[in-house]
Amino acid sequence: MNLVLMGLPGAGKGTQAERIVEEYGIPHISTGDMFRAAMKDETELGLKAKSFMDKGELVPDEVTIGIVQERLGKDDCSEGFLLDGFPRTPAQADALEGILVELGKKLDYVINIEVDDSILMERLTGRRICKNCGATYHLVFNPPSKEDTCDKCGGDLYQRADDNAETVANRLAVNLKQAQPLLDFYQERGYLRNINGQQHIDQVFADISNLLGGLSK
Ligand code: AP5
Ligand code: ZN
Repeated sequence: MNLVLMGLPGAGKGTQAERIVEEYGIPHISTGDMFRAAMKDETELGLKAKSFMDKGELVPDEVTIGIVQERLGKDDCSEGFLLDGFPRTPAQADALEGILVELGKKLDYVINIEVDDSILMERLTGRRICKNCGATYHLVFNPPSKEDTCDKCGGDLYQRADDNAETVANRLAVNLKQAQPLLDFYQERGYLRNINGQQHIDQVFADISNLLGGLSK
């Protein structure tokens, strides 16, 4: 099961990815998560990524493509993978095609979670994440039962540095510009499947499960 998850910032990629990897046992490859882990470890990659992420800009293609290429070559991707937030530019999409040919793999679906961009500011500024296990919550739409505490592991919740109103506005502008050419690219190749992301989180997952039910695990 070789999948790409697309959608504007806040569309619900991470939320659905958590469920998809739990259900289907494939590795979750989020370029955003990889950059944040590198930032935490203060590696060279992390320092480079931080200067772009703090402004809501895209990290340059050559950096991003390199880390995905390395990650997809790892053994745990042999039975499938879920790419989340990659590709985001035509150059990344071209590179992914080349990487997959080299690895002898083929995409099954590009799942695009569709939402109107007008609702995304509220989704992103209200998001909270568990420091310990990475689970995602929303103060209004998916609140934890105890304030600032993760239901799954009891860890503390925090707000991502790029989830402030100013950076969110730029992330949305940058991603709105990039999205359509990529959707066209995958539509032409027959991989694109649109999912309505403006339903309850459980219903969005039910629609994705329906789609994936036709593929072997
Ligand atoms: P990344 O980490 O990928 O962030 P993003 O694309 O901005 O997406 P988010 O993680 O913010 O949103 P999401 O769709 O996962 O939403 P979530 O499920 O959490 O990238 C961050 C940065 O890294 C980029 O800005 C860039 O600098 C860099 N980067 C990453 N990849 C790159 C690439 N390929 N090239 C270059 N640079 C790259 O949901 C959001 C909130 O809404 C949550 O609170 C959730 O609880 C709530 N919610 C989810 N679903 C629903 C629903 N159905 N109804 C109501 N609320 C919902
Ligand atoms: Zn947790």
